[in-house]
Formats: sequence, structure tokens, C-alpha cells
Amino acid sequence: MDSQQLRNRVALVTGGASGIGLAIAEKLYQAGSHLVIADLNGAAAQAALQALPQRDGQHKLALRVDMADYQSVYAMVEQCEQSLGRVDILVNNAGFQHVAPIEHFPPEVFQKLIDVMLVGPFVATQAVFAGMKQRGWGRILNISSINGKIGAPFKAGYCSAKHGIIGLTRVTAAEAGDSGVTCNAICPGFVDTPLVRQQLAELGAAYQIPADQVIEQVILPHVPQKRLIEAKEIGDVAVFLASDEAAAITGQAINVSGGYVMH
Ligand SMILES: NC(=O)c1ccc[n+]([C@@H]2O[C@H](COP(=O)([O-])OP(=O)(O)OC[C@H]3O[C@@H](n4cnc5c(N)ncnc54)[C@H](O)[C@@H]3O)[C@@H](O)[C@H]2O)c1
Repeated sequence: MDSQQLRNRVALVTGGASGIGLAIAEKLYQAGSHLVIADLNGAAAQAALQALPQRDGQHKLALRVDMADYQSVYAMVEQCEQSLGRVDILVNNAGFQHVAPIEHFPPEVFQKLIDVMLVGPFVATQAVFAGMKQRGWGRILNISSINGKIGAPFKAGYCSAKHGIIGLTRVTAAEAGDSGVTCNAICPGFVDTPLVRQQLAELGAAYQIPADQVIEQVILPHVPQKRLIEAKEIGDVAVFLASDEAAAITGQAINVSGGYVMH
């Protein structure tokens, strides 16, 4: 449903060209914010932006960013500030997965997972934090995962980054203090996106079952609701956390997992 809950806010969503990031971007835009979609795939970011209807008084911008590259992250924030004046809502969402047992996990891929999903969000936070505090309002949303709370086999790099970003979330909330800036993590369960679909073959190989049985045999037995989450359900939680109504919620890591994880 369209609303004006986030009217005049400037939202920046990394990894916003696909899956969860795209759904969050769409929901923030529907709620009235100006929108910047930043993604490694600049053409997909542009296409995602063009697919959104032009709405009176709302600006939108697509950027290419590599969250593994500090300079690219600083340049992304600078471009947002130059084009739209500021960043009010930062959504650190970009990410990827790699599935392999520890004995075969390439260290350079482990490092890349940490760079994209932990160091990049730290650098983006650093770039927007002072401005948000000065203006007395800001929202930083870090997309972690239930794998930020539990260890899943064959996901050493991913689980390490997702646990780490919950720590970063808590420090950011603590340093934000009474400034009017909040920082929270969202911890999705298995959401039906390309990231999940692409790992079914790898998970099947790791568990020695056919890829088309991974959802039924590996994932759903842990999920009380017996379903994958829809990306737009993460978008709705993001809009709420970005709203004025969520002002007292900070430093939290909120599961949206159909009951998979309950702590
Ligand atoms: N799908 C799930 O079940 C699930 C569950 C929990 C958490 N998450 C997290 O949600 C986020 C989004 O995942 P998704 O499922 O929508 O995946 P997705 O593959 O659909 O989208 C990820 C997006 O991130 C972009 N990206 C990748 N590397 C990047 C980089 N270096 N710089 C900038 N952009 C980059 C990709 O181009 C892509 O558009 C990730 O952080 C992921 O870990 C996903």
C-alpha cells in the first residue's frame, strides 16, 4: 500500500537491483522516500529504477558500487549527497553466498564475503554517520541473516560476516546514543531470491541429495511455518524500522524467518 510515511527521506539501498534489496527499495519508495539503488550490477540497478513509476516530488537515482572497495563506497555516498542532499536511511543489503566445507573454503572467497558484507557496511556507516547525527535523524538497517545467529554447515564466510554485522549494529546503536539515529539488523530466514536458488545445487552436493529436494529436506524441516519468506515481507519490516514510529528500537537483530530462529 502506498503511504507518505517516509516522505522527504532519502534512502540508499545497496544491492538494490535484485531480491531482498529490490523489495526493500520498492517498499521505501512506495512509502514516499527519495530512492538511490546502488549495486555492483549498474545496468540492473538502472533497470530496477526505471521499472519504478515516476512519482511527483520523489527523486530516484541508480549507481554502480562495489561494496568490497572503500573508495567506491565513499564515492557512492558522495554521489547521493551531491544529487539528493543527504542520506537519511542507509540499507546495507548487498551480499552473496559461497557454500563449501571449511577444508575446501578458499581463503580469498572468505575474505571477499567479509569485505562485501561487513567491511563495506562499516565504511558506508562511517560515511553517513556524522551527517545523520548532525541532522538529528537517521536510520541504518543492516541486512544480516539467521546465519548471523546460528552456525550453518558449509557457510563459514557467510556466517562469520553475518554474525559480525550484528556486532557492528550494536556498536553503531551505542555510539548513536540520543542523537536520533537508530541502527538495527534484520535477520531473514530463507527468502525466495536468486541468492537462495543459486545455492540449491551446491547445498545438494554438500548434503549429497538432488538440488530439487534441498528446500523440502534441508531447509523446511527447521521452519515452523513450512515456507520460504517473500522478499516483500523483509521490505515491510524495513519500512517500519525506517519510520518515526520505530524510534525506540535500536541495536536489535530482528528475525523474519517463519520461526526458524527464535532468539
Ligand atoms: N535470500 C535469502 O534467503 C537471505 C537470507 C538472509 C539474508 N540474506 C541477505 O540479504 C541480502 C540480499 O540477498 P538476496 O537474497 O536478495 O540476493 P540477490 O543475489 O538476489 O541480490 C544481491 C544483490 O547484491 C549485489 N551485490 C553483490 N555483491 C556486491 C558488491 N560487491 N557490491 C554491490 N552490490 C553487490 C548483487 O549484484 C545483487 O543485486 C544479502 O546480504 C544476503 O546475505 C538473504
